[in-house]
Amino acid sequence: MSLGLSRREILTGVLAMPLISGMMVTTPVDGMSSGDSGATVPVPARNFGAAVRPDQLSSENALCDAIRGCQILVPEYHGQWSAVEWRRGDPWYGNYDAICDFAERNGQIVRGHSLIWEKMTPDWARDEMAERRDWRTIERHFATLVPRYRGRISEWVVVNEMIDTQDGDHGLRRTSFQRAYGNDYVRRALETARALDPSAKLMINDYSLVYDNPIDEARRNRMLRLVEDLKARNVPLDMVGIQGHLELAKGKVDQRRTARFLKDLAAMDVEIAITELDVLESDMSLPIPNRDARVASTVHDLLDVALDQPAVRSVVTWGLSDQDSWLQDRARSTREAQTCSPVDCHRLNRGLPFDGEMKPKPMQIALSRVRALA
Ligand code: G3I
Repeated sequence: MSLGLSRREILTGVLAMPLISGMMVTTPVDGMSSGDSGATVPVPARNFGAAVRPDQLSSENALCDAIRGCQILVPEYHGQWSAVEWRRGDPWYGNYDAICDFAERNGQIVRGHSLIWEKMTPDWARDEMAERRDWRTIERHFATLVPRYRGRISEWVVVNEMIDTQDGDHGLRRTSFQRAYGNDYVRRALETARALDPSAKLMINDYSLVYDNPIDEARRNRMLRLVEDLKARNVPLDMVGIQGHLELAKGKVDQRRTARFLKDLAAMDVEIAITELDVLESDMSLPIPNRDARVASTVHDLLDVALDQPAVRSVVTWGLSDQDSWLQDRARSTREAQTCSPVDCHRLNRGLPFDGEMKPKPMQIALSRVRALA
């Protein structure tokens, strides 16, 4: 096409039309992507998904319609250990079941999130691990969930946010698991999950991996070493999740280093998932069109490299509507520091595909690339 338009402009322009209704592009397409070698490689359609909460699935509205347009659903909170088994021995599955029921009705994949994450570990489990250092605490937890959802949850975030190159132990976060079982707990967790559901894809998931700064660089290197070690020991690791919590204050996504990182991961025979994509704004006093353009531009920057890597098989945003974004808490200081329009949806951090009134934004058009011909 010789309209003097960039690839990005062609994709977002052509694909914008089906999105005016706010629906995601859902027709699977087989794309052709030119990897960094320049050769075209057949790239099956990638999946798009979003973090959801059960209450978002029960009302017939634009948000629920947009959720139906996803291929992957991820419980934003209700799949966490402390959300399922706040009291030992008294698990409650209602929210997880509701998300799985909705997904089954709509032919969608459910990604379990997450089997172990320090922040959402119930206090009784922390105490038990500290006292007993007995892996049966973890085995029991996994056995509570994984077999129950066999055939319903096809991907599990087994370990969430295990890297800490600043204060960790050999680059691994000092958590209840690491203290009780040592740094090898990641391997044990993956093997335990595999034994309980041999058909599910198993992943680890972490953040701060895409910017040009010493911390992200150290974290990328630590993730590579962790994956290399696990794969060398034939540990059942199928996927690596790269959290896409982008922050405009951090500057531009480092496309060169991120592309290299994704290529090095792909060389270790793992599928890559861009997870938890959203954007924290840095200046909410700008006119809305400028704010939305900045958000979309940084999402394009990440997708430019992610969608050029055939091993990247899915992109999941951490919600669909600004109204429900966890970022509103984090944006409070920015909002209070700057005079914002009194209209509520203007006061929201605008880091998800749809605004507070479910109007699609340029970010939503940018994301149409995920399901489009590469
Ligand atoms: O549902 C209860 C509600 O009944 C109660 O009244 C209210 C007040 O206590 O809490 C509600 O639960 C909250 C839940 O979000 C649902 O909104 C929890 O307190 C709150 O801790 C929980 O926060 C979630 C957080 O993870 C901790 O699980 C955020 O929504 C979620 O966006 C965030 O997601 C994490 C990823 O899992 C991992 N990566 C970072 C990302 C952002 O922190």
